[in-house]
Amino acid sequence: MKAFVVDRYGKNESLRAADVPEPVLREDEVLIQVHATGVNLLDSKIRSGEFKLILPYHTPFALGHDVAGVVVRVGPRVRQFKPGDEVYSRPDDFRIGTFAELVAVKEASVAIKPRNLSMEEAASIPLVGLTAWQALVEKAKLRRGQKIFIQAGSGGVGTFAIQLAKHLGATVATTTSTGNVAWVKDLGADVVVDYKTEAFDKVLGGYDAVLNSQDGKTLVKSLSVLRVGGQLISISGPPDVQFAQEIKAPWLVKQVMRVLSFGTRRKANRLKVGYSFLFMKASGSQLRQITALIESGAIRPVIDKVFPFEATNEALAYVESGRAKGKVVIKVR
Ligand SMILES: NC(=O)c1ccc[n+]([C@@H]2O[C@H](COP(=O)([O-])OP(=O)(O)OC[C@H]3O[C@@H](n4cnc5c(N)ncnc54)[C@H](OP(=O)(O)O)[C@@H]3O)[C@@H](O)[C@H]2O)c1
Repeated sequence: MKAFVVDRYGKNESLRAADVPEPVLREDEVLIQVHATGVNLLDSKIRSGEFKLILPYHTPFALGHDVAGVVVRVGPRVRQFKPGDEVYSRPDDFRIGTFAELVAVKEASVAIKPRNLSMEEAASIPLVGLTAWQALVEKAKLRRGQKIFIQAGSGGVGTFAIQLAKHLGATVATTTSTGNVAWVKDLGADVVVDYKTEAFDKVLGGYDAVLNSQDGKTLVKSLSVLRVGGQLISISGPPDVQFAQEIKAPWLVKQVMRVLSFGTRRKANRLKVGYSFLFMKASGSQLRQITALIESGAIRPVIDKVFPFEATNEALAYVESGRAKGKVVIKVR
């Protein structure tokens, strides 16, 4: 089959279009014919080698973390899916590889694709949808009447998280650049701060939660927009000790994470707010809950561009530009 693979780690390394063997199907996996795949900054960060400590992939390997497609074969222990099912998924770490014609995914990480979405639309959802779900529902336990500050409302995670937070009944503040202000308001944000002309920490205060997706300076400023007892959930680092425990990191890696998050944790303690790092996980059951929200019309996909399969490197470069409005998708079939 055709796949786009990482041969060497590096910022400037292109993915190689290769002919590779079909994935070996394990007993609890379904083999999915990939119709469309979403592109994420995680793909870029893995390719550059930035994630080697957490996700040490051995080269060469196929990249890609989002799939929508059709089940073509199932392992003997699979109960919920059969050939012909239209599904979508964020495959588990170390079983990635959706920039390919076929991918094998654990049954527990797959869900039936929302009926009202095309394959391209469905492929735009899993990674960012699960990230927003795990941050807002699992970690922040966001409730009706609460206030949340979601950074970068025009990005892949932001566009989904704004819609989810509104569905949960929260008041949402976000940041974006001048050209996207009206567009992000249309998505449902109540307060939009144009980061080109205004400092969000001067205008926001008393928030129950922050979803941090930007750099360290933004993270420190974000702590001050929280009320006492509020919580900051960061998806862009620094990783903390609890995360090290979750991934069963070796002792040394745990100590590195303790040191990396020390300054942030100290500042959070002083302000009497919570800090935690989130690295999203695959989940078929959470995807099913997301499917219900999409089919009810509460959340819609936001797609910036669809690239052909041959242009996978161009799609990745477009995401790396940091200017995408919503999601970037590759049509594989
Ligand atoms: N830990 C996890 O599990 C996890 C999961 C998903 C994503 N992430 C991370 O979260 C971050 C965001 O991911 P994403 O997929 O949403 O990225 P993305 O879609 O590539 O983000 C692009 C958007 O960011 C906006 N932006 C850029 N600089 C900004 C700033 N200073 N303030 C506000 N908005 C800004 C841009 O809007 P303008 O053009 O208007 O500037 C653009 O719309 C990445 O670092 C990604 O790796 C982590």
